Amino acid sequence: MAVGSKMEACCVLAVLVGLCTVARTASAEGRIDDHLEVNWVGGGRGSVSPDGQVISLSLDRDSGSGFRSKDTYMYARTDLQIKLIPNNSAGTVTTCYFMSEGSWGNHDEIDLEFLGNLSGQPYTLHTNIYTNGTGHKEQQFHLWFDPTTDFHTYSIVWTSLHILVLVDGTPIRELKNHADRGVAYPSSQPMRLYGSLWNADDWATQGGRVKTDWSVAPFVAQYRNFTATASSPGGYGYYDQEMDAAAQQNMRWARDNYMVYNYCADSRRFPDGSPPECYMP
Ligand SMILES: *[C@@H]1O[C@H](CO)[C@@H](O)[C@H](O)[C@H]1NC(C)=O
Ligand SMILES: *[C@@H]1O[C@H](CO)[C@@H](O)[C@H](O)[C@H]1NC(C)=O
Ligand SMILES: *[C@@H]1O[C@H](CO)[C@@H](O)[C@H](O)[C@H]1NC(C)=O
Ligand SMILES: *[C@@H]1O[C@H](CO)[C@@H](O)[C@H](O)[C@H]1NC(C)=O
Repeated sequence: MAVGSKMEACCVLAVLVGLCTVARTASAEGRIDDHLEVNWVGGGRGSVSPDGQVISLSLDRDSGSGFRSKDTYMYARTDLQIKLIPNNSAGTVTTCYFMSEGSWGNHDEIDLEFLGNLSGQPYTLHTNIYTNGTGHKEQQFHLWFDPTTDFHTYSIVWTSLHILVLVDGTPIRELKNHADRGVAYPSSQPMRLYGSLWNADDWATQGGRVKTDWSVAPFVAQYRNFTATASSPGGYGYYDQEMDAAAQQNMRWARDNYMVYNYCADSRRFPDGSPPECYMP
């Protein structure tokens, strides 16, 4: 009796898992390198764990490392779990971003960059969005947890409606598609997902005042559980629609409490008024 009901439960689970993975182009099952490849090997500094679950990127004085997705996506949602460099990570930048191919001057990019810091000081999550080679849409956040002690999920949703950035499921940033009102929006070039770890101590930490301490190198960041769902009609749940009231309230909470820079509020940089999308609801 007990055995029978256990088996039944297993079957139900198997069916559910089967159904869930059908909709995914890259699922969390299997090996991470089924879908991501270490393309900036850096003399072995970028590597996949033998069980295929984790990509480790490392950085020392001689080189950083990085990976990219094997597929390109024309609209997608991606989720990736990252564990950032512990202790003194000042000067380092750990990234996760979508970027189009082709000429740099016309590229599209949705950028998450984790700027390291001294032990006990907060990481900064720097975000930016480029269309046709032009960015200037920087927003920065501190996180409401220590991102170095455990894996946390960072997500980019890119649809024809909007771009969303989420941290552990909480939306922190939305850029709506206002192309119909003349605001450039990435909508014509497929993008690939990239991750990398590199040294940027000329600007990354406290404006470049704090340099990388190479005596504690190598620095290591880990990535796991990559999923990407390519565009399919109705395939995003509520992400393909306007955010609901609860999601908007969560985003407001994150922005009210953890946003530390917003280009829309930088009047020194835009003395004649913020860019037009800043005023569009
Ligand atoms: C980080 O620092 C703590 C205490 O200062 C130490 O115990 C730990 O080994 C360090 N971790 C790494 C990865 O260096
Ligand atoms: C992208 O920028 C180039 C100039 O670099 C311009 O000629 C082209 O029209 C732009 N494309 C779009 C879709 O705005
Ligand atoms: C590092 O810590 C300082 C002091 O708490 C903080 O002002 C800064 O935003 C943090 N992040 C970076 C990348 O400098
Ligand atoms: C892996 O990612 C999926 C989808 O983002 C999530 O549902 C699942 O809980 C994650 N697994 C772990 C072990 O965190």
